[in-house]
Amino acid sequence: MQYRDVARLEDLEPGTCLSVEIDNAPGVALFNVDGEILALNNTCPHAGGPLGEGTLDGEFVECPWHGWEFNVRTGQCMENPIPEWAASCYPTRVENGIIQVAFPEETP
Ligand code: FES
Repeated sequence: MQYRDVARLEDLEPGTCLSVEIDNAPGVALFNVDGEILALNNTCPHAGGPLGEGTLDGEFVECPWHGWEFNVRTGQCMENPIPEWAASCYPTRVENGIIQVAFPEETP
């Protein structure tokens, strides 16, 4: 697992989210929950909506396409809380004001 730079911390205010496309990796949805940076796969498991363009409320994001809610800490889908409908979570860290995300090694 290798961390990659994905965004600047200053572009992700507390209470907001961000959708980021990355070369050779899945798009990532970033969330700032009271200063804690969290990341999910940007592709909604329901039908592919961009979760990073949704509405963040506390630690829940509402998908912009059909309104399903996901816990941004666990990826759990609140409408269908089964593993098949969960969004993948990625580890994050911040280095010198840059948000970094670790993607699984098998990711193309
Ligand atoms: S694509 Fe996200 S709720 Fe349908």
